[in-house]
Amino acid sequence: SELKKIIQGIPKAELHLHIEGSFEPELMFEIAKRNKITLAYDSIASLKEAYKFNNLQEFLDLYYIGAQVLIHEQDFYDLTWAYLTKIHSQNVVHVEVFFDPQTHTDRGIAFDVVIKGIYKALEKAKAELNISYQLIMSYLRHLSEEEAFKTLESSLPFKDWIDGVGLDSSEMGNPPSKFTKVFEASANQGYKLVAHAGEEGPVDYIWEALDHLKVVRIDHGNRCLDDDTLVQRLIEQEIPLTLCPLSNVELKVIQKMEEHPVLKMLDKGLLATIHSDDPAYFGGYMNENYYETAKALNLNKEHLMQLAVNAFEASWLNSETKEKHI
Ligand code: HPA
Ligand code: ZN
Repeated sequence: SELKKIIQGIPKAELHLHIEGSFEPELMFEIAKRNKITLAYDSIASLKEAYKFNNLQEFLDLYYIGAQVLIHEQDFYDLTWAYLTKIHSQNVVHVEVFFDPQTHTDRGIAFDVVIKGIYKALEKAKAELNISYQLIMSYLRHLSEEEAFKTLESSLPFKDWIDGVGLDSSEMGNPPSKFTKVFEASANQGYKLVAHAGEEGPVDYIWEALDHLKVVRIDHGNRCLDDDTLVQRLIEQEIPLTLCPLSNVELKVIQKMEEHPVLKMLDKGLLATIHSDDPAYFGGYMNENYYETAKALNLNKEHLMQLAVNAFEASWLNSETKEKHI
């Protein structure tokens, strides 16, 4: 369709992507087989059948199970490379990738095994696909701050490969303020800071991410529209929101795409952007997220261009490189 062509034609930046959430069932079965791991699902179809979520936690439970088949550096490399070739086909030219070290180190996989596989694929994509990238290490918020400190410590030998830290996993009951000290320590190591906030959690969590963690970007942030003072703050400080429309529908953050807040956010002057979050689980990569949102909210070409420009604006590219994309 015309709309699909327009979206394909726009060079895009993806800023909210969990690499473990790009694990397609086909690749998961292939890696499980070579690692001699038996999945609890006997076929790709029955696994896909389980991808029906009522909330964030139901998704996370499956996402952590899927990640258990990743053992060797090659597995992390293959996972990352599959994602990068996919987004290359969708005209995504810059990506800021999250990875969850604790999902792997807690199962006895060494930090270096995880990061080397991911890093080598990213470097190959930079050289061969002309995709620029940043890498963001996320702390799991259902674990303790002490555990996050251990992860920070493990990351230090690879500091040059890591651009920032994030905060993900179960939001309710795990407010950003739980991680104030480890975010401060991360900033002292030179890491940039982001956090998931206001996806399922209340508007207070967005305030905490700003005031306690000092993040430069909010992941999701859907709930900010509940608070006009917060909206003003986000506008004035040009704090970007990395929204994930298909994720929001699949996790019942909204009941249907027509309710997605992104258009309201753009109209208010917020630096709203669109991304895929966990594309293998939520039924779409970047183009599908743009397309489903555009269809449901009647977005025009200018809106779509604005969303793409906003993402480069919100990215961690240097200002000279940003200019080239905008
Ligand atoms: N929210 C919180 N944690 C996550 C997500 C998400 O959408 N995806 C992967 N980890
Ligand atoms: Zn996310």
